[in-house]
Amino acid sequence: MPPTWKRGGSCARPVARSRQAWDRIAVGYDRTNTPTQMWLGGEGVRRAGLREGMSFLDVAAGSGALSIPAARLGGRVFATDQSAVMLELLEARARSEGLSIETGVMDGHALEFADASFDIVGSQFGVMLFPDMPKGIDEMARVARPGGRVLVHAYGDPRQIDFIGFFVEAVRAVRTRLSNPVHVGIGSKPR
Ligand SMILES: C[S@@+](CC[C@H](N)C(=O)[O-])C[C@H]1O[C@@H](n2cnc3c(N)ncnc32)[C@H](O)[C@@H]1O
Repeated sequence: MPPTWKRGGSCARPVARSRQAWDRIAVGYDRTNTPTQMWLGGEGVRRAGLREGMSFLDVAAGSGALSIPAARLGGRVFATDQSAVMLELLEARARSEGLSIETGVMDGHALEFADASFDIVGSQFGVMLFPDMPKGIDEMARVARPGGRVLVHAYGDPRQIDFIGFFVEAVRAVRTRLSNPVHVGIGSKPR
């Protein structure tokens, strides 16, 4: 059954400061991070069992390190992010490879899709950054179909990883409510 994708609208619950920050760094992120993280995105969607024709939602997609490999595998991809600039860069990447990816600006805490809309819902280094990460994960599970999959790529406890710990402490110095990134994994939604 085709997914019932509810289109349009800007962030239902804007996280304005975070969005502005990501808008500002988007071009640099697209140049340095997206190309180097694309292999990981490809590995994740392959392990999650994405096949041609499956619907795939990317939450906090950035400029496409997970969406582009999903589309290369033949997935019907919808990429969401709070940052319109990131999604413009993602669209440019998709165009340059002749891939078709739908995009929508939205807050991952309040996904603008009906329940059970997608075969697989993924987030690479995205939901782990949400101020309310459990809410973000609940939303991913809500829009995955029964028997579908939720794929999360996330760093573990930054205190255990030197270079991330350094970065997180720097961010915490200006953003004291930053929560700890956790877990890596693929979960199945019960039927
Ligand atoms: C570290 S980047 C990851 C981008 C991409 N998934 C990747 O693997 O390269 C984090 C992304 O999360 C997005 N983001 C952060 N909070 C968000 C929120 N509440 N709703 C939607 N996107 C959000 C940012 O705009 C940014 O594009």
